Amino acid sequence: MGVAYEKFLERQKQLEQQYSAEYYEKQHNRGKLTARERILLLFDQGSFEEIDAFVPPVGVTFGKTTKAFGDGVIAGFGTIGGRQVYAYSQDFNVLGGSLGTTHAAKIVKVQDMALKTGLPVIGLIDSGGARIQEGVASLNGYANIFRRNVLASGVVPQISAIMGPAAGGAVYSPALTDFVFMTEGTSYMFVTGPDVVRQVLNENVTPDQLGGAKVHTSKSGVAQFVYSDDANTILGIKKLLTYLPSNNIENPPYVANDDPTDRVEEALRDIVPEDPDKPYDVRDVITLITDKGRFFEVSENYAPNIIVGFARLGGYVIGIIANQPKVMAGSLDIDSSVKAARFINFCDSFNIPIVTFEDVPGFLPGTDQEHQGIIRNGAKLLYAYTRATVPKITVVLRKSYGGAYIVMNSKGIGGDYNFAWPTAEIAVMGPDGAIAILFRKELAEAADPVALKKELVAKYRNEVANPYIADEKGFIDEVIDPAVTRAKIFRVLKSLDKKSVSLPRRKHGNTPL
Ligand code: HXC
Repeated sequence: MGVAYEKFLERQKQLEQQYSAEYYEKQHNRGKLTARERILLLFDQGSFEEIDAFVPPVGVTFGKTTKAFGDGVIAGFGTIGGRQVYAYSQDFNVLGGSLGTTHAAKIVKVQDMALKTGLPVIGLIDSGGARIQEGVASLNGYANIFRRNVLASGVVPQISAIMGPAAGGAVYSPALTDFVFMTEGTSYMFVTGPDVVRQVLNENVTPDQLGGAKVHTSKSGVAQFVYSDDANTILGIKKLLTYLPSNNIENPPYVANDDPTDRVEEALRDIVPEDPDKPYDVRDVITLITDKGRFFEVSENYAPNIIVGFARLGGYVIGIIANQPKVMAGSLDIDSSVKAARFINFCDSFNIPIVTFEDVPGFLPGTDQEHQGIIRNGAKLLYAYTRATVPKITVVLRKSYGGAYIVMNSKGIGGDYNFAWPTAEIAVMGPDGAIAILFRKELAEAADPVALKKELVAKYRNEVANPYIADEKGFIDEVIDPAVTRAKIFRVLKSLDKKSVSLPRRKHGNTPL
């Protein structure tokens, strides 16, 4: 081919020279992999197709510039586990991964292509935020990205992994995506950094204390997953992808396995303790019912009084919501309501049936919760369950009282199949509260109020707080032997395969916020 081909090769060589030994060393010394290494780990070997590798940064001003090809972000597509995915990976070695005009345009191109082709988008974030020297153009770059994040929401899965800094408004692209991963020790997210916090509030905090992985996965709930290093974070992303469809018109991937769908699990009969106030770990229920070893928990460290995550049943992906009696007796508070609501919204957007395991004494009482808005936030959960049109199944394991009965996918708000175990207690309120209100006078006048209360509580449990009244009224479809829960759920899920519900026409509902 002669001269033309040589020119082509020379250009390729220049690109390779950018990735020198020093380039790798700089990033490795920070305890991080380079943008390129991350991309190579993420995609199936040899499958990644880079686009816009040579686009240069626009002429930057203010004395700080770079000649780096690609303007600090690697963008393109390839396969992960054989499925097509788009991704971009920010390069901290180029002006701190800051987002300039062409850097933003590359991300936007990936987002547009993903939306057009119905493919997931993964963003590997390692950036000092808007490139200061490009001024308002970099702010506009972020605006363009945010707009695509919103347009793609509920159409294709969007995943962000924070693998270095994510500072300033830059945090809002991950926040608009479906799932946020963080890497322990090397990633942090904040709207205003430690310097500003010191200046404005006279408060000394490290980046990790202000917005490290622990903070965001356990306190703020901004991120759902944390892994020990870059390589494990990338493995986590790949694992999550196995549960997700590529877009909202596909079903999540079916993966056959040899766990029989009619497996009888006698251990389930003894999982709920005789003493109604004794806790147990609802994860044991989940793992005994779902396909073996396939529960992938989401937001494990945030609001642990509710458990959410993906699992498989007979090879089909399901989303699980389960009250956790081990933490705060499984009561619903603000954080757990919001955690579950967000997960339900995701499952509903992407055709993932929802299975709920219920054991909840009620909403958490107290001034703190009321003043912070348990009404407004509990409404998010109620709204999410009610609006969801995917198949929705509930199994009441034990407590199902009051508002919590209604919220946790009761028949009245649209539960398709509602089962209860014989241990279920379904009533307006728990025995202690009910007896105190109904028999206030009698208890005040009784010679032995403790004995009377004990007797009335036992009577209430026997006559009111059981699953049989709800069963006879049709609010529970069937009281089942716990041992056959797996088979029951599988059968009704199969029957709901073609479920179709149309909602009233509207621009969009006014979700409580
Ligand atoms: C241009 C930047 C940059 C930025 C970092 N760099 N951030 N260049 N614009 N936003 C450059 C540095 O000048 C440096 O260049 C290189 O990246 C590495 O940065 P260091 O500071 O040496 O690294 P480190 O000590 O690890 O600190 C990383 C950092 C810090 C914590 C990210 O650089 C930082 O605080 N940057 C600013 C973060 C910030 O406030 N961003 C918000 C911008 S406003 P050299 O040439 O020396 O290697 C924003 C609004 C978005 O993002 C609006 C959306 C609505």
